[in-house]
Amino acid sequence: MKIIHTLPELRTHLAQFKHPALVPTMGNLHDGHLALVRQAKPLGDVTVASIFVNRLQFAPHEDFDTYPRTLQADCAKLESAGCDVVFAPSEKEFYPEPQTFKVQPPPDLADILEGHFRPGFFTGVCTVVFKLFNAVFSEAQGSRVAVFGKKDYQQQMVIRRMVQQFALPISIHTGDTLRAPDGLALSSRNGYLSADERAEAVQLSRALNAIADALRQGEQDIASLEARAMQTLTKRGWQPDYLTVRRRHDLQAPQAANFGGGALVVLGAARLGKTRLIDNLEV
Ligand code: PAJ
Repeated sequence: MKIIHTLPELRTHLAQFKHPALVPTMGNLHDGHLALVRQAKPLGDVTVASIFVNRLQFAPHEDFDTYPRTLQADCAKLESAGCDVVFAPSEKEFYPEPQTFKVQPPPDLADILEGHFRPGFFTGVCTVVFKLFNAVFSEAQGSRVAVFGKKDYQQQMVIRRMVQQFALPISIHTGDTLRAPDGLALSSRNGYLSADERAEAVQLSRALNAIADALRQGEQDIASLEARAMQTLTKRGWQPDYLTVRRRHDLQAPQAANFGGGALVVLGAARLGKTRLIDNLEV
């Protein structure tokens, strides 16, 4: 496995391949990330994982400075998952000057849910992903593939829309959310949790499951399902940002008339102590 830190070296190395498959990450890798790498492997002739903690997608009060940087351990895991190339640029390499050109996603998709609680987040994500795509795919001659996790449901939708609107010749694949045995979605941020918080953390996915089960059983009163789930978590000491049922295709609230046919997703974000967790479930 080759570990590359600069853009010129990446471009030179990738020039010998036709079909790169990319898995963008911010490192501190867990089995969920590795599952995406394994999924990417048969989709190209070279599997590239990027590791870059992207300052642009963090608000000033968020955890950019403390986000765990574990490059050596990450590379060992990537190698065992069959990754061929790790692209891990420094901030100076990737943003040699302030990144003042940005990719601004549309408000209907990017200012709701995560974007509402983290203003500018998806601009930061789109900008770095667009730049990573240019870094990895510029020399490619054939199919280009990038793989994202459904764990960040809204993120993969925003990326899909960006690729479609800019007519980028890249196909976006998504991987299912990997969970710990108790049901907690794997996340780099789970490492912030104390032992007690870790035991409690599964309640987020339980709350989403409770909503999903009720919907499957024909419950129509979505507003009260959402309110009850928020109350349950709040009573347990969480600070929920949202627990909400949305249409899968545009993440808007379903109309009573059309949600019987399925194609819904239940999304949640909530803070436990200082740690903000997100999760979702397709119904
Ligand atoms: P990061 O949080 O490191 O996640 C990298 C990829 O792994 C994302 O596509 C994410 O959805 C996926 N992922 C995270 N947890 C997962 C799980 N439990 N199961 C399956 N996949 C999982 O998302 C980002 O980084 C950044 O925003 C990035 C796209 C790299 C842009 O900076």
